Amino acid sequence: MKVTVVGTGYVGLVTGACLSEMGNHVVCLDLDADKIRTLRAGGLPIYEPGLQEIVQRNVAAGRLEFTTDVEHAVAHGTIQFIAVGTPPDEDGSADLQYVLAAARNIGKTMTDFKVVVDKSTVPVGTADKVKAAVQEELDRRGVKLDFAVVSNPEFLKEGAAVADFMRPDRVVVGAEDERAILLMRALYAPFIRNHDRMMVMDIRSAEFTKYAANAMLATRISFMNELALVAEKLGADIELVRQGIGSDPRIGYHFLYAGCGYGGSCFPKDVKALIRTAEEVGQPLRLLEAVEAVNDRQKQVLVGKIVDCYGENLSGKTFAVWGLAFKPNTDDMREAPSRVVIAELARRGAKIQAYDPVAVDAAKRVLGHVQGLSFAESGRAALEGADALVIVTEWKEFRTPDFEAMRDSLRDKRIFDGRNLYEPKLMKTLGFDYRGIGRG
Ligand SMILES: NC(=O)c1ccc[n+]([C@@H]2O[C@H](COP(=O)([O-])OP(=O)(O)OC[C@H]3O[C@@H](n4cnc5c(N)ncnc54)[C@H](O)[C@@H]3O)[C@@H](O)[C@H]2O)c1
Repeated sequence: MKVTVVGTGYVGLVTGACLSEMGNHVVCLDLDADKIRTLRAGGLPIYEPGLQEIVQRNVAAGRLEFTTDVEHAVAHGTIQFIAVGTPPDEDGSADLQYVLAAARNIGKTMTDFKVVVDKSTVPVGTADKVKAAVQEELDRRGVKLDFAVVSNPEFLKEGAAVADFMRPDRVVVGAEDERAILLMRALYAPFIRNHDRMMVMDIRSAEFTKYAANAMLATRISFMNELALVAEKLGADIELVRQGIGSDPRIGYHFLYAGCGYGGSCFPKDVKALIRTAEEVGQPLRLLEAVEAVNDRQKQVLVGKIVDCYGENLSGKTFAVWGLAFKPNTDDMREAPSRVVIAELARRGAKIQAYDPVAVDAAKRVLGHVQGLSFAESGRAALEGADALVIVTEWKEFRTPDFEAMRDSLRDKRIFDGRNLYEPKLMKTLGFDYRGIGRG
């Protein structure tokens, strides 16, 4: 099949690459000329495990192409995926300017039937706006052409995006047009050969499903983070509580880790946007308002523990920070808790020696200006000359460090662990002052 993907970010690039891997001919369009140049030169503008090989293989096979040429991209695909960003507007609602610009570009140059697929996370009702934007452009040109708009939200996880796209738990398709449904079934059939996991529903329900999923996951995290604060007061260990409740199949183990707050390009903005949507229809979401407030507070918890130890004035103190990306296996710094932690430490005059296995370049772009912040080549190097260690992202390489070397490097032998990586009793035996989240 001929497919165009508009927007080659974390979602668009994975979508385009994985679709080409199944034999489709895919053109990926982006307006960011630097990104397209990098991709054409064989590089990747993002870090995503397993993606590079797929991109290289399919470019070499002539099934995957990158362009900034809108006309060429629109002419290519019968199916046009819109996978551009939907960042939060000032009032928290999703900013649809990129989605609608992409839709307009399709209307401006299309010459035959198109299925326009909203893959970006967009508020309920956006498909109607996309339809109107395409139609407006067709009317302006004075041409009559048929097209269908479909909602196909993406559920992939950064860091495991290729595996998630190749073997999706479900493919949600919101559509009314029968031709569009048939095409979407044909496109996704190779990804769900084992058994049908495509759920076809009305467009509004599909749009809503994506927000409901992220809201649920964010709620679980904030729920545990709030309980963790109580556990600390009660002398209970939230890690044991997590295992105690996760074993109940009605609850399950996923997304129950207490930590220093959720970040990333999705949960914070999607929770905000859903709260805004609900306000607009006069049905405020009190629970989600609390989820967001709890998360904002949680991003300050590590700093609070540091201030409890060292006081408000941190000048003369040096902190090693392990982990910058909002989660492991990605270089995505959007809304990463590390940004709050580093800004708060720097504001109090501390020196920070930060390390991340892949996100240092991305971090330099957003944190490069921070006074007192330097970047280390390794976790070990970050510890040298530091008073204490602050763990913000749970990369695998942090799970079993050389504790003796760590203890020898850290002046105060103190660890503030925002991801509960280590066993408090063991750390005590090893001579550390170890402070996790919610660990009694
Ligand atoms: N990142 C994730 O894990 C994830 C998961 C599921 C859903 N989503 C949703 O998918 C959407 C995209 O997210 P992302 O993380 O890939 O964003 P991103 O910012 O990484 O990429 C968006 C890309 O779109 C390009 N773009 C903007 N306007 C364009 C236009 N008119 N024509 C062509 N290109 C254009 C930008 O230059 C950018 O490269 C968002 O709505 C997001 O909420 C993201």
